[in-house]
Amino acid sequence: MRETPKILSAVLAICLLFPAIPALGGRHDQSASPDTLRLLCIGNSFSKDAVEQNLHEIALADGHILIIGNMYIGGCYLEKHWMLAERDSAAYSFRKIGADGVLVNHHDTSISQALADEPWDVVTFQQSSGLSGLPESYEPWLTNLVKYARKRIPRRCRIMLMQTWAYASNATNQFYGNYDSSQQKMFDAICKTYGDAARKHRLGLIPCGTAVQNSRHTFNRENVTRDGYHMHKWFGRYLVACTFYEALYKQSVVGNGYRPPHLGEERTDLAQRCAHAACEHPGTVTQIDFDNPSDTSNGRWKPVQVNTDPSKVPAYTLPDALTMQDGHKVTTPEQWYSERRPELLELFETQMYGKAPGRLEDMEWEIAEEGPALDGKALRRQVRIFFTKNKYVTVLIYIPEGADGPVPAFMGMNFEGNATVSPDTSILYPEPEHAKAYGIYKEQPRGNRASRWPLEDIIGRGYGLVTFHTSDIDPDFDDGFGNGVTPLIYRKGQVYPEPDQWGTLSAWAWGMSRVLDYLETDPDVDAARVAAIGHSRLGKTALLAAARDTRFAMAISNDSGCGGAALSRRRYGETLRSITGTFPHWFCGNFFKYIDNEDSLPFDQHEFLALIAPRPLYVASAENDSWADPVGERLSFQGAQAVYDFLGLDRSLTRYHIREGAHGITLEDWKHYLDFADDHLLKH
Ligand code: GCU
Repeated sequence: MRETPKILSAVLAICLLFPAIPALGGRHDQSASPDTLRLLCIGNSFSKDAVEQNLHEIALADGHILIIGNMYIGGCYLEKHWMLAERDSAAYSFRKIGADGVLVNHHDTSISQALADEPWDVVTFQQSSGLSGLPESYEPWLTNLVKYARKRIPRRCRIMLMQTWAYASNATNQFYGNYDSSQQKMFDAICKTYGDAARKHRLGLIPCGTAVQNSRHTFNRENVTRDGYHMHKWFGRYLVACTFYEALYKQSVVGNGYRPPHLGEERTDLAQRCAHAACEHPGTVTQIDFDNPSDTSNGRWKPVQVNTDPSKVPAYTLPDALTMQDGHKVTTPEQWYSERRPELLELFETQMYGKAPGRLEDMEWEIAEEGPALDGKALRRQVRIFFTKNKYVTVLIYIPEGADGPVPAFMGMNFEGNATVSPDTSILYPEPEHAKAYGIYKEQPRGNRASRWPLEDIIGRGYGLVTFHTSDIDPDFDDGFGNGVTPLIYRKGQVYPEPDQWGTLSAWAWGMSRVLDYLETDPDVDAARVAAIGHSRLGKTALLAAARDTRFAMAISNDSGCGGAALSRRRYGETLRSITGTFPHWFCGNFFKYIDNEDSLPFDQHEFLALIAPRPLYVASAENDSWADPVGERLSFQGAQAVYDFLGLDRSLTRYHIREGAHGITLEDWKHYLDFADDHLLKH
């Protein structure tokens, strides 16, 4: 125990001999008051997630002083805890938050030392997450540990179990196999093992795992972990701390006044309610009823209301694309390009998507694989672009064989990995270590999204295809902005983007620009004739990439909907409230102030589309895609067309179609895009 002065070791030894005398030689926090509660967790990184942030502050907000000790060894499991206790091994980091809320890390501490350190009121144990649903992993070690602790803690001290949680449905954690990679199976198993252990030893239960599972049954879905198993730095950690609080104090956490960092009101409220429901019904998921005012809500949460009734679209006035923020009219095309366009772009960047950095200084690339494809009709090239030593994107490129010089190309990201784009067996899957860093990722069968990428047609008509996986830039879930490229722009000490710094859509669009940087060096692709294309969330991204980076020669938005081509003010189908609830990571922090407040947006999406001018712009919708608001997409497109007209641009530069059917990108859509590209990207 490095921090204990040597002179005290004799006293400490006495303490160990008479453990019922509380903490004579320990660090017993003198600043505590009579009603201070003292909590000691014997745990690992999961207890770190649960008790080292927020918990002290939540208690304080309700007037309680809480001293917290966390005996930490990464991944430690019950059998190992027992082995270390038996040997009295000083193998732990004893991380202690005092009455003042400050965490001090005492290295090289043994369980007996920690138990003697304070007159603890509560001691918790937990199983390591991978083993937590396996009953055979609990005994006899839990029995031994409970006995061991009881001998060393005050009589009144409660021993509790901290229930761990199931992994994200597509988690890459190696132990997920214990549950056939099924979240439900893991959750059910955890409920059973912890429930049985708590009954057997008559211990209280802190139902963190149930709280996590509750949150997955709300709009928040999988945005609760940061890597598929550890808690999201802000939401998840706050959620489990809330659960701890309520289980410790038996006092509802709903309405607690502490505001955790980087969480909006909705998710703060959501966490409180999920934790509360878990404490009330620990063994089962509670479907939180946001519509029911008699639910445990304190009334802050507003349910997501989705309108798909055209007659209920509210009256709204669109901002005039040709009026500057200060009220001046744009009277000439030059003024549009030199004043209004930069003003709008700045607004979209700072108020909606978030600013991205430019090209990184030390970017490098290498060809990872190259070979013939499509029966010799194409060349396949796979290129790795390195942002740092470990962060890279693998770009899959197909180039028509026998082209007469560099070809025009479509660049679009893919949702589920390059290998899903075509059954071509030479497409590389991500290296396991690389995929692990995605956190949530499930390897998909080759070619399972091939219908979205009519490669033969694209190649046959003389175009290249350039694609890469979203996760290589930023995995598509909210982890609190720790993974992906986001941290690359953090200044020293920064842990979260500023309100005007990039969210995930912006990071993805930035990725498209970086791939274009590479294409500028590729001898077979004409980087000056690259169309940015994307479906749905990736349509939003393609538009942003082309709006920001005028090197893209064309923009194609396929069913991009809310946050893409569709007007926000119509509030039809997906709304700002809904999109920011389910995908809190997509936009920048500033955007959240426009939720339920669309009329105060300093722009609407027709002005976003207008940023593509003077380059060709294609917007497409699908009739049954009410979530993406096809009417709102068309109206927005027409609003952009008015700017193209003002700029004196030919109508052939803008095209729109709506096809029958549902949300998706089909061969029919692609045929339109190829025709459009023929008109504008082929050299005639
Ligand atoms: C969700 C989301 C949309 C998005 C779509 C997609 O439906 O709400 O905004 O466009 O996913 O990307 O498929």
